[in-house]
Amino acid sequence: MIKGTPRTLTVNILTLFPDLLEASFSHSILKRAREKGLFHPKLINIRDFSRDKHRTVDDKPYGGGSGMVIKVDPVARALYSLRRGKGTGLVLLLAPTGRRFDQKMAQQLSRLERFTLICGHYEGVDQRVSEKLCDHEVSIGDYVLTGGEPAAIVISDAIVRLLPQALGSENSAVQDSFSDGLLDYPHYTRPFRYRGWKVPDVLISGAHKKVSVWRREQQLKRTMQHRPDLLERAHLDPEERKKIAESARPERKPGHNRRRKE
Ligand SMILES: C[S@@+](CC[C@H](N)C(=O)[O-])C[C@H]1O[C@@H](n2cnc3c(N)ncnc32)[C@H](O)[C@@H]1O
Repeated sequence: MIKGTPRTLTVNILTLFPDLLEASFSHSILKRAREKGLFHPKLINIRDFSRDKHRTVDDKPYGGGSGMVIKVDPVARALYSLRRGKGTGLVLLLAPTGRRFDQKMAQQLSRLERFTLICGHYEGVDQRVSEKLCDHEVSIGDYVLTGGEPAAIVISDAIVRLLPQALGSENSAVQDSFSDGLLDYPHYTRPFRYRGWKVPDVLISGAHKKVSVWRREQQLKRTMQHRPDLLERAHLDPEERKKIAESARPERKPGHNRRRKE
């Protein structure tokens, strides 16, 4: 559990599909965080800020090409409506062209009182939204989604589990992957043996010190195997750095590097 004084994080989300987000925020930890008053998602339908009778929010792209583009004016009006209230906080446009979302960004956002996410759709959002109305663009990965809503769910979920008191004591965000720059260790539960697949003996040894040494080794091993790029910035002690350097060194063949006798 993340320690600290409980407080409310407000996430304003501008979207064309508020129902999609509402459904995702109504289950499990996000639902409980809402009920405890820790997480307040404020869903704003961009369509409510269209000024024509058909509630149009998109138009054809200038210069031609396929697809439709979300117009700048309804988005601007939606943001002004927030500014007239409690404010927007940081404004982030969800876009594959943005800065990559990661655990560090999740930690930074979780410390804010409020911020605003804008979900695009169709071919994207008029560039003036990004340039004139937003602080940054944020991407959740190098792939293209149909709309920003899944990205808003991913970001909200990653942040809410970092809020003080959002997780029960049975769930700890402190030990999660990336929290100390390493991947998490493997977890097991009963039964001890399933179809001959055994849980590592050390985990039932009752020796807490041995368990924590094993877990740390597993974290290092997994990170080396799957995400060696994380190691450089991870929080490691000198002994661990040495071990990693040794295991990364190519194996020497016997006789290799020996001085040839003249
Ligand atoms: C079909 S995408 C637009 C893609 C855009 N034409 C491009 O190629 O960069 C529609 C919307 O989905 C959202 N989106 C798509 N991929 C995303 C990603 N990787 N991260 C965050 N948002 C994304 C954005 O809000 C975007 O405006």
